Amino acid sequence: MAVKQVLRMGAPLLLQAAQAVQQFDSPGLHALIADLEDTMLAMNGAGIAAPQIGVSLRVVIFGQKATADDDATPINPRYPDADAVPYTVLINPTLRPVGAELEDGWEGCLSVPGMRGIVPRFTHLHYAGFDQYGQPIDRLVSGFHARVVQHECDHLDGVLYPMRIVNLKDFGYTDVFFPNQDVQDD
Ligand code: NI
Repeated sequence: MAVKQVLRMGAPLLLQAAQAVQQFDSPGLHALIADLEDTMLAMNGAGIAAPQIGVSLRVVIFGQKATADDDATPINPRYPDADAVPYTVLINPTLRPVGAELEDGWEGCLSVPGMRGIVPRFTHLHYAGFDQYGQPIDRLVSGFHARVVQHECDHLDGVLYPMRIVNLKDFGYTDVFFPNQDVQDD
């Protein structure tokens, strides 16, 4: 479909709660997901939420499609140390932490380009929802996968990761925090 412009922090729509999807397997929903996928790939995002491209619906996508000849785990250049997360379309999600354990980790966001911050997230997470065809998704995940889902689903409630940073000393420019790494601009 198309690479869309990503709204940046400050845009009011990023602070709104998004609406639930009412109809699955519709042309409009498939077009939205194609736009999200094109935009995420173009910007090397770990994930993206519909509000980031100006659509206030409870739709997120994240992860990477497995490649055909793969021993080679697909690696996101923005998060080269991350475990691979399977490509997922997640609609009308519900999240439930499993246990109280929290883990600090670096996050960035396509809506906050050029910056990184340390954010605590639940280590273990149960999430459920639907794919674009209305098929249920139900998973128990940990670590980076759990972090990505928490970050993306926050977008559906108008929450951006800087709002979850505990110590603002842990928030800054990517190329200042990581001067020797070839990290992309956003
Ligand atoms: Ni984000």
